[in-house]
Amino acid sequence: MMSADLAFRHRFEPGAEPAAEPLLLLHGTGGNEDDLLPLGRMIAPHSPLLSPRGKVLENGMPRFFRRLAEGVFDLEDLKFRTSELADFITAAAQHYGFALDNLVAVGYSNGANIAASMLLVRPEIMHAAILFRAMVPLIPDTFPNLSSVRVWIGAGHQDPIVPASETKRLVELLRRTGADVTIRFAKAGHGLTNDDLEAARDWIRESCRGI
Ligand code: MLT
Repeated sequence: MMSADLAFRHRFEPGAEPAAEPLLLLHGTGGNEDDLLPLGRMIAPHSPLLSPRGKVLENGMPRFFRRLAEGVFDLEDLKFRTSELADFITAAAQHYGFALDNLVAVGYSNGANIAASMLLVRPEIMHAAILFRAMVPLIPDTFPNLSSVRVWIGAGHQDPIVPASETKRLVELLRRTGADVTIRFAKAGHGLTNDDLEAARDWIRESCRGI
């Protein structure tokens, strides 16, 4: 199953409704391909789920790209890893037979950051994104046209890693591309709460059917 094009460890669960929007699940630092499957099932019960494991190891913890320090990213590695992940998703869509044109990324922390990077540098990959505790990953050389893309950002009021000013920068950056951005602050820190998940589930129900 791991052909060269599918060279990420991953899990794929077909959905009960093959026409339902597929979810791309991207874990946080130290997570793996199993972590977000229950979350994906909770927010989109009938969707196919694709969940890769990040290939970079930081002290043994999987991530999707290298960082130099907390919140300071290795931009060359980020660009390379973004492209590598985008190619994997394209190959997985073909292999498993799901459409990319209604793919929704759901990322947490490091996974949200690479999802935001993919929106900015490989905009053909997804049409909606749920970004939990995300930061500005990079400023693209050329701004993509994301006017058909919907993004929901779930921030935490007491997040010690992502201050509100960083969330605001991300919202402004994505709005410059024309994306339809919804921002929500939970009464929480960097970790996710049930309240975050319920809000994301409601948003996906209202915004993503039939995209
Ligand atoms: C990152 O490195 O992507 C962010 O600092 C979030 C994290 O993974 O801790």
